[in-house]
Amino acid sequence: MKKNIRLITIVGARPQFVKAAVVTSAIKAHNQQKHVRRLEEVLVHTGQHYDLDMSQVFFNQLDIPAPHYHLGVGSGPHGEQTAKMMVGIEGVLLKGPPDLVIVYGDTNSTLAGALTAAKLNIPIAHVEAGLRSFNRGMPEELNRIITDRLSVLLFCPTATSVSNLKNEGIHQGAHQVGDVMLDAFLAYKKAALQSSPVLSAHDLKDRSYFLATVHRQENTDDPARLTAIFSAFSKLASADCPFIVPLHPRTRKSLLKTEFRLKLNQHIKLIPPQNYLDMIALISQAKTILTDSGGVQREAYFARVPCVTVRDETEWTETVESGWNILAGTQTEGIIRAVKSLDSVKLPAPPPYFGDGQASRRIVELLSSQVK
Ligand code: UD1
Repeated sequence: MKKNIRLITIVGARPQFVKAAVVTSAIKAHNQQKHVRRLEEVLVHTGQHYDLDMSQVFFNQLDIPAPHYHLGVGSGPHGEQTAKMMVGIEGVLLKGPPDLVIVYGDTNSTLAGALTAAKLNIPIAHVEAGLRSFNRGMPEELNRIITDRLSVLLFCPTATSVSNLKNEGIHQGAHQVGDVMLDAFLAYKKAALQSSPVLSAHDLKDRSYFLATVHRQENTDDPARLTAIFSAFSKLASADCPFIVPLHPRTRKSLLKTEFRLKLNQHIKLIPPQNYLDMIALISQAKTILTDSGGVQREAYFARVPCVTVRDETEWTETVESGWNILAGTQTEGIIRAVKSLDSVKLPAPPPYFGDGQASRRIVELLSSQVK
């Protein structure tokens, strides 16, 4: 029997907790089988997200083991935040270099994990590899390009993400495994619909509310864009179809700065960041979703709820091609037009672009067979 495989997983931001939860659970299931190479996982939390409702609630609800290391880095300018993470991660990796480091998605925690591991010659696996917006003005795009370039195992959610890597000359190590977010959605949807009190708590009726989220730096930190987006929400919200808007802390701060709150339509309800089950319940029963989040665009698709994306480009082009997502930009009139256009269409069944909900199992199989 070959020796166990030692993995160090690096997470730090809200969506990474969801993605790591399903892979960690697949590792547990793998280790329970007989005659397999066991995977030993050490979890490192950079502390990029630190508020209770941005971090700990996900660990509690998704049954993620407490991190072995919590680096407590917190917020800061990109260079400072990434550098502090690298110092902390290097300390952990030097204590006992693993066989492989796993990073998720496209945040500064992803980049810090990949760059630190690469400099110590530790192989890297990137979950959610190959996504591109082709907008290098986004911090996430830079994080993705560098992380993919440094990784030896690239777990791609879609066919498009595999071909993006090929176009950049990355032909080896890429595997189309499906989307781990779909695994999580399928695993928790039933529990969310049965147990989440969120709809009744906010007096929302099925298919009679808009759900909106805005958190991207390019939207929150540009007062003109943020104003245009929330003006569209204000013009669309009504007593019959109110808006429910879980606010990322960054968006809350920007809205307070622009003194927007006072001018918002009374049928827009701003609420704190939601835990995973409440968010899945809100997504599943909405009439239409408006968002700039990559995760929420896909969750809308999984739930078969039409989505309007308030950005100029998306990495999740399949959702747009299928008709379930409209890329509306950030101008007020364009957003309103996109939402209204959905009233009259009957959308076809969404093709299974994101796999079958078995991405995490495939990732674990590949880890156990490919890591030396
Ligand atoms: C990060 C990711 C983004 C991802 C998002 C998920 C980067 C570059 N961006 O963006 O890709 O979609 O996470 O949510 O890594 N803040 C708090 N409490 C917290 C965390 C953040 O108040 O627990 C506030 C701080 O003011 C902070 C700001 O939010 O400065 C931004 O946080 P940061 O972690 O830098 O980036 P996100 O916008 O969350």
